[in-house]
Parts: sequence; structure tokens; C-alpha cells
Amino acid sequence: MAHASGLADENFVPADFTHAESGVHYRIYRENGRDWLSFDRQSRDPVHGKRELLYYIGSGRRGLTYLFADDGFLFESPINWYGNKRLWDMTPAYLNAHEIPLNLPAHTNCLHCHVSGMRPPLDGTENDYEMPVLSGSGISCERCHGPGATHLRSGAIVNPSKLSPQARDAVCMQCHMEGRVSVERPGRHVYEFRPGDSLADFIRYYVTPASLRLGAVSQVEALAQSVCKKKSGDTMSCTSCHDPHSSPSREARVIYFRQKCLTCHGPDFGSKHHPEQTDCTACHMPASPSTNIAHTQVTDHRIPRLPSVEMPRLDKASASRDKVELVPFPDSREADDDVRDLALAWEQLANSGEENARARAEEMLERSASLVPDDPETLSALGYEQQRSGKIAAARKSYQRALALHPDLIDAATNLGVIEAQSGRLESAISLWSSAFARAPGRSSVGINLARAYCLAGRPDAARVSISRILEFNPDMSAARRMLEHLSRTGASCDPN
Ligand code: HEC
Ligand code: HEC
Ligand code: HEC
Ligand code: HEC
Ligand code: HEC
Ligand code: HEC
Repeated sequence: MAHASGLADENFVPADFTHAESGVHYRIYRENGRDWLSFDRQSRDPVHGKRELLYYIGSGRRGLTYLFADDGFLFESPINWYGNKRLWDMTPAYLNAHEIPLNLPAHTNCLHCHVSGMRPPLDGTENDYEMPVLSGSGISCERCHGPGATHLRSGAIVNPSKLSPQARDAVCMQCHMEGRVSVERPGRHVYEFRPGDSLADFIRYYVTPASLRLGAVSQVEALAQSVCKKKSGDTMSCTSCHDPHSSPSREARVIYFRQKCLTCHGPDFGSKHHPEQTDCTACHMPASPSTNIAHTQVTDHRIPRLPSVEMPRLDKASASRDKVELVPFPDSREADDDVRDLALAWEQLANSGEENARARAEEMLERSASLVPDDPETLSALGYEQQRSGKIAAARKSYQRALALHPDLIDAATNLGVIEAQSGRLESAISLWSSAFARAPGRSSVGINLARAYCLAGRPDAARVSISRILEFNPDMSAARRMLEHLSRTGASCDPN
């Protein structure tokens, strides 16, 4: 975990390839001691430019990506190194993109698992960080031993093995658990968690039983299903097999893990059971060779009795064949009873493409809003559902209340802007969108809305500024370029159609 992140320079992998679908030629190269990403398309819609790469994320064993800053805002590189195939390609969700996704914000939820010493983004923004973003390379001692670890001699370090089993497991879970969806607790952020805290005070995780069955989940969820863990209970943890300070070498790994198994199963069992093959994990914890996605287990932590076939991948189709269910992980009475968190979890599930969850989400959000009327996240999500189902007056009210409680909410401001514009309140829409776009300039669609509103309000110069700002962050957005050309030609109108 010492190579989970760092300065780009410390893990430099050059790139030079053309992405067929978009016709863009990408390069990662070093020049005058600095690292660059360049993008270039000569033919249709020419575009070219470069960004200085500041940090890397991922050792490269399974994958690697870089981060760059644009006017202080931090973004992920549009291309990824795929460790298994040993090649560069687009980042996972953009393999077939026709435009360069240069505006992917580096959110805290991405950084908190990969870097140490991360500070939250500046007020009201989602990715405007004070530089430097990380205080050192990799996962530092503090992430597992608490703030006292910076002064090891003071003796104030948290030793995870001396914590309660729940708090001990939370130290690894803060980074090795994602769940199908997760919800931060009211006013809390998972990156505020410190070793010794209860993780459930900061975040709740939810899993769908379908994903559990398929095994396309994190090591934490998978291990929880193993007979070893179920029968051993709290005496078993990640450190029953892993040394958090080092991994065994390739040559040593077979004996290393065998000894871990035999700590519980006993040397006698080991001498009788399959003496022809010393590698217990070859049969009981096989690695899935095809998995190339970070964040799903490669090694089958369910520790099956019978050597299992390759783990099937969880895709949307296989998930929705089952009745949609969502359960807290770990399950607890408090989590089950928490309507606010559960409602937001259903909403996230619906927004992740699980349309079967939509009705349930709206119903639960209504209930949650009547139980906890002052929760800005609930009101923002409820507003969205109301807006989708055409309850415009109710949606406006929900958004307004959400923003009164928490003026920084970008989605609520953006969506309320749409309602305002549609009901002819252009100035109100402009004010909402310009504030949101200033704080999230990577959100090109907000910029497009804003430019259009400026045009309608007879302010073409302001429209031009907005479109230029979009293109600064998203230079390959053809809709914005067409809009700018049309505006230059007509002098007043934004809409090319
Ligand atoms: C909940 C914590 C968590 C979040 C959020 C998270 N990661 Fe990861 N990531 C991990 C862990 C743990 C691993 C390594 C083990 C694994 O794959 O299970 C990993 C692996 C990776 C790898 C491969 C690293 C290697 O060893 O080769 C890359 C690249 C990566 N993550 C990038 C990202 C990016 C980019 C984001 C944000 C969009 C992100 N991750 C969000 C925890 C997280
Ligand atoms: C990924 C989490 C993690 C990181 C990072 C980490 N440790 Fe640990 N450390 C642990 C765990 C877990 C234990 C308890 C191991 C056990 O006994 O099962 C431990 C135990 C220790 C102990 C023994 C404590 C005692 O009282 O016996 C020392 C000393 C220690 N770590 C120092 C460090 C230092 C120094 C760093 C940074 C260079 C570091 N650790 C980084 C997880 C971590
Ligand atoms: C701050 C986040 C964080 C914490 C806390 C954390 N991990 Fe990790 N872990 C990662 C990331 C990120 C990777 C991928 C490392 C990379 O890209 O090199 C990883 C990789 C691993 C690996 C794969 C082998 C390796 O060293 O790369 C193991 C095993 C592992 N972690 C176990 C643990 C255990 C056990 C704990 C709890 C004691 C723990 N981790 C706590 C983030 C974390
Ligand atoms: C912390 C103790 C512990 C560790 C470490 C451990 N196990 Fe287990 N395991 C158990 C217990 C307890 C059972 C259930 C009783 C039994 O079968 O002995 C079990 C059961 C099993 C089973 C039977 C599963 C079934 O479906 O019936 C297999 C297979 C297994 N372990 C393999 C392994 C392997 C391989 C390792 C090392 C990679 C390992 N175990 C490490 C405690 C452990
Ligand atoms: C019974 C032993 C055992 C336990 C317990 C265990 N692991 Fe593993 N883990 C392994 C083995 C074996 C590998 C494969 C290592 C290798 O091939 O070098 C592995 C690999 C990993 C990897 C690398 C990615 C992958 O899936 O191959 C990560 C990350 C990881 N474990 C995290 C965890 C975490 C977090 C926990 C606690 C929830 C945990 N492990 C508990 C045995 C175990
Ligand atoms: C060549 C493949 C293979 C290897 C290597 C292997 N096992 Fe197994 N193991 C099996 C199979 C197959 C079964 C199921 C036997 C049955 O149901 O009759 C099994 C069953 C088990 C069980 C359940 C108890 C029992 O006797 O049915 C445990 C526990 C277990 N193995 C642990 C281990 C441990 C620990 C190691 C390494 C010391 C190991 N296995 C190595 C194939 C293997």
C-alpha cells in the first residue's frame, strides 16, 4: 500500500496510442522534468492540448491513473493504464466515448482511499483543493494508527489489534469496502474517520443480495460469507492472513498463506489433506484471471469448499433479474431502522441505473422527509424525484428548503435552475446556475444551461464567457463549440437549431 498514490514522477508510465472511436491521439510523456498528458485530433473537429500530470493513483499492478489540475480544480486523466493487459486505454466508463472526457472531477470519495493527508475541497466546491493534495506517498501510518502515529515515540498510536473487533475491522473497511451503494451520515464524511472511531458514525454501506451471490464485491463482503469467518467470528480478521506492513514475495506466498490457514486448521490436517499440492489458495481461494477492474476482489475471499469456477461478473442485467433488495452491511438494528440513510441508499441505487428501485426511492424519501424535515440531502433527493414525476411546485419547495439549509448543494441548485428557467424566471435561474458553475466548472451541462439563459436574457457577452469557460475544462465538447460558432455568427443567439 506504499504505492497507492504519490507524485506523478514517482510512477511514470508513458503512453502513446490512438483511441479508435474518438480518433484522439493520447500521449503521456516527460519534458523538462515534468510529466504531461497530451491529446490531439487532426481530422474532423480538430482539438489539441496538454495538461501537466501532478499525481498518480494505483501502483499499476492492476491499474493506474493520473490526476491533473486546471485552474485549481483537480481532475482524473481520461485514460487509464490496465495492468493485466499492460496497455493504456480510456478510463473504464468511457471506453466508447466520442469526445475526450477531460472533466472528470477527482472527488474526495476517490482520494480518501488512495492518498494520505487529504484535505477536504474548498467550501462549496467538489474538487477545488488546496495544493499539495497529498502529504506523502502511499497509505501513511496514520491511516491505520491514528494521528498520534506522526509522533510514534509519544506512544499515542492506536494499535488496531487492541481495538474492539468492530473498530479493528473498520480500519481496513474504510478503504476496502464500497458496497453496492453507501451513504454518508448527516453532516459527516467518511474521510473524517480516524482509527478507533466507529465507521457507522460516518458512513453506511448497503449491498444487494444478487451482487453478494455473484462474488463481484469487495474482499470485506466476500470474507463475511466464508465459512471460516462465520465459524470463527471476531477472532478472524483481515490480519489473520495479511500483514498490513508488507506482502509476501511471489516465491514466499504459497508457504506464507498455507501457514496462515494452518494456524486455524492445524498442522495435522495440513499433512493429510492434499499433500500433493502445498498451495491451499490454488483450490480454495482461486484468483479470477479475467478480472481487470479495480475495486472488485480478484482472489475469491469467500473461501469455497469446492474449487469454484471463475467468478461471473456482475452486470446490470444479472442484477435486475432478481427482485431488487438492499440490505445494510454489516446488518444492524440501527441501520435497518434508519429511514433517512436507507431512503438515500435507494435513491442512489435508482440513479445508478437500477430503474426498478425508483418507485421505492421516492416513497421512502417522502417518508424520510416527514420524519426528518431538516435534512438537506433528503430534500434535494426528494426534489429530484418530485421533479421527475412532474410535481413541479413540490419539487421547487423541496429544493428551496434544501438550499436554505445548505446553500452549497450543487445538484439542488442546478435542478432548481431548470424549474426556474422553465417557468420564465430567467434571472433566478442565472443566479443559481452561475453560482453552481463557478464552483463546479467541470460540469459542462450547467455551463450550457447558463449560456443559453444569458442568450435568452439578451446578454451574449456573458454567454460567450460561459462557453469559453466550458471549453477551458472540456475542450472537445462539440455542443459548446457549435454554440460558440453560432453565437459569433449571429451575435445574439445561442441555439444552433
Ligand atoms: C472505498 C475505497 C476506494 C475508492 C472510493 C476508490 N478506490 Fe481505487 N482502490 C481501492 C482499493 C482498496 C484498491 C486495491 C485493491 C482492490 O482492487 O480491491 C484500489 C485499486 C485502484 C486502482 C488499481 C491499483 C493497482 O493496485 O493497480 C486504481 C487505478 C484505482 N483504484 C483508482 C481509483 C479512482 C480513480 C477512484 C475514484 C474514482 C477510486 N480508485 C476510488 C479503494 C478505493
Ligand atoms: C494498512 C494499515 C496499516 C498501516 C498503513 C500501518 N500499520 Fe502498523 N499495524 C497495523 C495493524 C492492523 C497492526 C496490528 C497487527 C497485529 O498485531 O495484528 C499494526 C501494528 C503495528 C505496530 C505494533 C504495535 C504494537 O503496539 O505492538 C507498530 C509499531 C506499527 N504497526 C507501526 C507502523 C508504522 C510505523 C507504520 C507506517 C510506516 C504503520 N505501522 C503502518 C496496520 C497498519
Ligand atoms: C487508506 C486506505 C486503506 C486502508 C486504511 C487500508 N488499505 Fe489496503 N489497500 C489500499 C489501496 C489503495 C490498495 C491498492 C494499493 C496499490 O495500488 O498499490 C490496497 C491494497 C491492499 C492489499 C493488496 C496487496 C498490496 O499491498 O498492495 C492488501 C492485502 C490490503 N490492502 C490489505 C489491507 C488491510 C488488511 C488493511 C487493514 C489493516 C488495509 N488494507 C487498510 C487502501 C487501504
Ligand atoms: C481464523 C481461523 C481460520 C483461518 C485463518 C482459516 N480458516 Fe478455514 N475455517 C475456519 C473454521 C472455524 C472453519 C469451519 C470449521 C472447520 O471446517 O474446520 C473453516 C472452514 C473452512 C473450509 C470449509 C468450508 C465449507 O464450505 O465447509 C475451507 C475449505 C477452509 N476453511 C479453507 C481455508 C483456507 C484455504 C484457509 C487459508 C487461506 C483458511 N481456511 C483459513 C477457520 C479458519
Ligand atoms: C484466509 C486468508 C485471507 C483473509 C482472512 C483475507 N485475505 Fe485478502 N487475500 C488472501 C490471499 C491468499 C490473497 C491473494 C494474495 C496473492 O496472491 O499474493 C489475497 C488478496 C487480497 C487483496 C489483493 C486483491 C485481490 O483480491 O486479490 C486485497 C486487497 C485483500 N486480499 C484484502 C483483504 C481484506 C481487506 C481482508 C479483510 C476483509 C482480507 N483480504 C482477508 C487471503 C486472505
Ligand atoms: C488440490 C486442491 C486442494 C488443495 C490444495 C487443498 N484443498 Fe482443501 N479441499 C479440497 C476439496 C476438493 C475439498 C472438499 C472435500 C470433500 O468435500 O470431500 C476440500 C475441503 C477442505 C476443508 C473442509 C474440511 C474437509 O475435510 O472436508 C478444509 C477446512 C480445507 N479443505 C482446507 C484446506 C487447507 C487449509 C488447505 C491447505 C493446507 C487445503 N484445503 C488445500 C481441495 C483442496
